[in-house]
Amino acid sequence: MGKPEESVRPKRLSDYIGQKDLKEVLEIGIKAAQKRKEILDHLLLYGPPGLGKTTMALILAEEMGVSCKITTAPALERPRDIAGLLIGLQPGDVLFIDEIHRLPKVTEEILYPAMEDFRLDITIGKGQSAKTRSLPLQRFTLVGATTKVGALSSPLRDRFGLVQRLRFYELDELTPIVLRTAAIFSTPITEDGAAEIARRARGTPRIANRLLRRVRDYVEVKAGGAVITGGDRGGSSRAL
Ligand code: ADE
Repeated sequence: MGKPEESVRPKRLSDYIGQKDLKEVLEIGIKAAQKRKEILDHLLLYGPPGLGKTTMALILAEEMGVSCKITTAPALERPRDIAGLLIGLQPGDVLFIDEIHRLPKVTEEILYPAMEDFRLDITIGKGQSAKTRSLPLQRFTLVGATTKVGALSSPLRDRFGLVQRLRFYELDELTPIVLRTAAIFSTPITEDGAAEIARRARGTPRIANRLLRRVRDYVEVKAGGAVITGGDRGGSSRAL
């Protein structure tokens, strides 16, 4: 059986390959926050799927020594969904909301005072007798992820202290990612073999790791667990 996605995700910033600019920005943010014993600013990550947005949110929590609560915007349909999550946060926790461009308006409006003043404004009752209550929340870091940054409303986008784009990975970044995942799987592979997989992954680690799983299956079933190598590109080592 293949190892679950979780175990191949890098856990620390130092294990994370690629996205050099993003890592630099976050490293500074983390160090500054730790120095001041403060929390991280809210962070919006945007870019194509499969490039490591969720992984980065988990890493931030790990680096800050807090928990990360993961949800996705379509799951936050009713005000009570987001209210429940916010109330459950411990000081400094990371709240990760995937596909944040799909937040319903009511949920988005609850997030504004929560992000800005760590306050939960709730309305009790309806119509004339409706009352609003304001509950204090623990300070937290919202990490929003989206593939469509243009679809975010500007009031929401403007409440993120950091807005960062993830870019497609170069071959020389994807190859070590494949090698790293293969090592976690204890799958023998050559550098050429990893590059061959990386070349077919459209700049996306998720695709690279998926291809690696398929090649590993094939090698284990059809080739008696031989080493994964590159093709005949002239001079590549062949162990098959
Ligand atoms: N696995 C998937 N994405 C990765 C990354 N950016 N660095 C290291 N391992 C990964």
